[in-house]
Amino acid sequence: MGESVNPLADLRYAATVPRIPEHAEPPNGRLADRLGRPLRDLRISVTDRCNFRCTYCMPKEVFDRDYRFLPHKSLLTFEEITRIARLFIAHGVHKVRLTGGEPLLRKDIEALVAQLAQLRTAAGERLDIAVTTNGSLLERKAHALHEAGLERITVSLDALDESVFQRMNDVGFAAADVLRGIDAALAAGIARVKINMVVKRGTNDREIVPLARHVRERYGRRAALRFIEYMDVGASNGWRMDEVLPSAEVRARLAAVFALEPLEATARGETAQRWRYADGAGEVGFVSSVTQAFCRDCNRARLSTEGKLFLCLFATHGHDLRALLRGGASDEDIAAAIGLVWRGREDRYSELRSAAQPGAGGGSRRVEMHYIGG
Ligand code: GTP
Ligand code: 5AD
Ligand code: SF4
Ligand code: SF4
Repeated sequence: MGESVNPLADLRYAATVPRIPEHAEPPNGRLADRLGRPLRDLRISVTDRCNFRCTYCMPKEVFDRDYRFLPHKSLLTFEEITRIARLFIAHGVHKVRLTGGEPLLRKDIEALVAQLAQLRTAAGERLDIAVTTNGSLLERKAHALHEAGLERITVSLDALDESVFQRMNDVGFAAADVLRGIDAALAAGIARVKINMVVKRGTNDREIVPLARHVRERYGRRAALRFIEYMDVGASNGWRMDEVLPSAEVRARLAAVFALEPLEATARGETAQRWRYADGAGEVGFVSSVTQAFCRDCNRARLSTEGKLFLCLFATHGHDLRALLRGGASDEDIAAAIGLVWRGREDRYSELRSAAQPGAGGGSRRVEMHYIGG
């Protein structure tokens, strides 16, 4: 390829350059993998950096001053990201989520949102664009993001209590500032807000009811709190099953305080099981990737910061789309290569987890959450 990129940082995860098939049908929006799963959702990591050091994601001992993040020239440019997104849309993608690391750290991220907002699905519909953020820069950025076309945001918040939250993000960032970011997003007109709480038994499980109460009272139906089972992603967080609090237990603790009613799923492949407060004060969701895997309907592809396509959150191997882009491949060729990769997909890690040894990566290194995004 003749690029002078940092070899250590760039070769951190195994990747191969996808093959361009000789005779490929043009994309028809109905691509399906080996298990019949369509391609609907593209998650794009725009930076591998983060200003938090959440103990379950970027523990300080690993992500310290010596850690080699990707050099700037390795990152896909906004034009490259938009071009790839357009090709994925041709294959059926309706939803694009920008993640990180912390996506709002990427300079001018609102310009990328504006470019993506111009794209249309094959049926001529607007793309559903969302951002997953830790909320630290949201107060500053909410207005510009909404102006650029963002209507949906997911903010991570693991506790209301300052000492618990600050211990979890490990940089002393205040929960009150994240809440101000959420207020700013709503005030700016970003109407669909979700709040994600990763629950770790013994660390923040006492925050379940207080955070639910706060979100209910302050936001009502304007924001949905979702409880995420702590997963064994990556290899840095020292995951242990006994720290997972199953969603069923989280729900029981909530039901002891608030009356809850189940809601029907609205879309296939939805990650969360949704419930609503019987008194009408909004809804909560439970993402049970450990105790109730949802691989059967998994329609998500992930694009890393330097343009590698991963077919699963737990993948050990990526498909280097950037090599095709920068090697001068045509749109048709790249779309055909993506088609071939997706057709061969049979990943279903979470379903197999119970059978396999959790934390074992088949000898290769699994991707980290800060690199591939939630
Ligand atoms: P929307 O429906 O687009 O709002 O988002 P989502 O429900 O897919 O959820 P979000 O991106 O907020 O993800 C919530 C959490 O679910 C993440 O932080 C992960 O912990 C988990 N998660 C999301 N996607 C996957 C996936 O494909 N596999 C697994 N195992 N976990 C996932
Ligand atoms: N298990 C579950 N969720 C995780 N996230 C990061 N690491 C994990 C993990 N080990 C979540 C964050 C955020 C999103 C980016 O991914 O809390 O909501
Ligand atoms: Fe925490 Fe999200 Fe940053 Fe990971 S990427 S350290 S979960 S804020
Ligand atoms: Fe999809 Fe992999 Fe998550 Fe299963 S484990 S839902 S296949 S990303």
